[in-house]
Amino acid sequence: MTHYDAIVLGAGAAGMMAAIEAGRRGRQVLLVDHATSPGEKIRISGGGRCNFTNVNATVATGRERFLSQNPRFALSALSRYTPADFIKLVDRHAIAHHEKTLGQLFCDGSALEIINMLMTELKRARVTVELGTSIEAVEKTEAGFAVRLSSGSVTCEKLTVATGGKSIPKMGATGLGYKLAEQFGLAVTQTRPALVPLTFETGALEKLKPLAGVSTNAVVGHGKTRFEEALLFTHRGLSGPAILQISSYWREGDAIVVDLLPERDAMEMLREARAKTPKLAIQTVLAAHLPRRLAQMLGEELNLPGMIGDFSDKNLAAVEALIKRWALKPVGSEGYRTAEVTLGGIDTRELDGQTFEAKKVPGLHFIGEVVDVTGWLGGYNFQWAWASGWAAGQAI
Ligand code: FDA
Repeated sequence: MTHYDAIVLGAGAAGMMAAIEAGRRGRQVLLVDHATSPGEKIRISGGGRCNFTNVNATVATGRERFLSQNPRFALSALSRYTPADFIKLVDRHAIAHHEKTLGQLFCDGSALEIINMLMTELKRARVTVELGTSIEAVEKTEAGFAVRLSSGSVTCEKLTVATGGKSIPKMGATGLGYKLAEQFGLAVTQTRPALVPLTFETGALEKLKPLAGVSTNAVVGHGKTRFEEALLFTHRGLSGPAILQISSYWREGDAIVVDLLPERDAMEMLREARAKTPKLAIQTVLAAHLPRRLAQMLGEELNLPGMIGDFSDKNLAAVEALIKRWALKPVGSEGYRTAEVTLGGIDTRELDGQTFEAKKVPGLHFIGEVVDVTGWLGGYNFQWAWASGWAAGQAI
C-alpha cells in the first residue's frame, strides 16, 4: 500500500492550491479526482475566461462579502493569501488578464490558462495526480487515514477534503465532503443553491415570459442588501448578476424589490415628461429610459390609459412606485442544476480557522466550497478556494 504524507481529495481550485503548497514544502502529496480533467469548474467559469479573483476580496470587505454563520471565519485565510498573491502567480505565468468591472479579474484568453498554470505548479511541486479515480471509502487509522480508491488503497498522515459543493452535478459535484463530515461526526450547516436564477409561479411567469432576453441595469434588494448590476429576464424567471447576488440572501416566502431606474429621480423624470411631452402614453415615456418590451409590460401592469399630460400626481406616484420599488415574489430557484455555488457547508465551528483542520479529528482538513463560506459573485469564490487551499497547504 502506498503511503503519502498528504492526500487531497478533489482537484478543483482549492484542492490544487493545497496540493501545490504542501508539495512545495517537500511533502509527498497525492491529489485525487474522479473527473478525468482537473479544475472543470475553472474551465467553465467566467464564460470560459475565468473570473479568477476580485481585487476587493480582502479582509476589509470579508465580513460582508463572504456569507457564513461565522462571518469572521474566512478573514484569517483571506489575510494570509490575498488577491495580490494570486495575481503575482498569474503574472509569473505570463497570463494576460484584465479588470472587467467591480474589481473582477478575468483572463484575456481562456480559463484553460489558469488550469495549465496550476498543473505546471503541481508538477514543479512533485505532486502525484490521479484523475478518473473514484473514492470508495475513507477510514481513520492510528497513524492517519486509509483511503480506498478505485485504483487501490493508499494511506496518509493528513487528509484534505476539497470536493466542493453540490452545484452542477453534471460536472462531477457529489456532496462527498458532507458525507465525510457526517462520517467523522462534524456538523454541517443547512445547504442551499446560491448565485442562482430565481423562478416564479405560473401567473407571474406568464407576465415575465414575453420579456425573455431583455436585460437592464437595476438595483435588486432584499432587506438591507442591495446589488446594482444587470437584471436579465428569462423563460423561467429572473437571472443576471443582480439576481444571482440577491439569491444568496433571498429565502422562500420573501419578496425582492427592484429599482428599474437606479440612476434617476423617477418622480422628477415623470413630472418633466408630463410638462414637456403631455401627449405621450406612459409606455412611450418609460421606453425612453427602459428596454421597449419592459416599458410595454409595465404600462400594461399600471393600466393607466390616456396621455401623461392628463395624469394626476397620484397617477405619477403609482408609476414611480412600480419602477422604483417593483416587488416580486419568487417561488424558488433553478436549484443545483445551474447554481454557481452551495451556500452553507461544514460548520466553521468544527474547523481551525488557520489550518482548516477538524478540531475533533486531527489530520483531517476541509477547504473551499465544501466549508460554510460562500462569496459574492465576481471572483470571490475562487479567492476563497485559493486562500483556504493555500492555508491548508502550509499545515498538511
Ligand atoms: P470544485 O467544485 O471546484 O472542485 C471539487 C472537485 O472535487 C471537482 O474536481 C470534483 O470533480 C471533485 N469531486 C467531487 N466529488 C468527488 C468524488 N466523490 N470523488 C472524487 N472527486 C470528487 N467563482 C469565481 O470566483 N469566479 C467565477 O468566474 C466563477 N464562475 C463559475 C461558473 C460556474 C458555471 C460555476 C458552477 C461556478 C463558478 N464559480 C466561480 C464558483 C467556483 O467555481 C467555485 O466556488 C470553486 O470552483 C470551488 O472550488 P473547490 O475547489 O472548493 O470545488
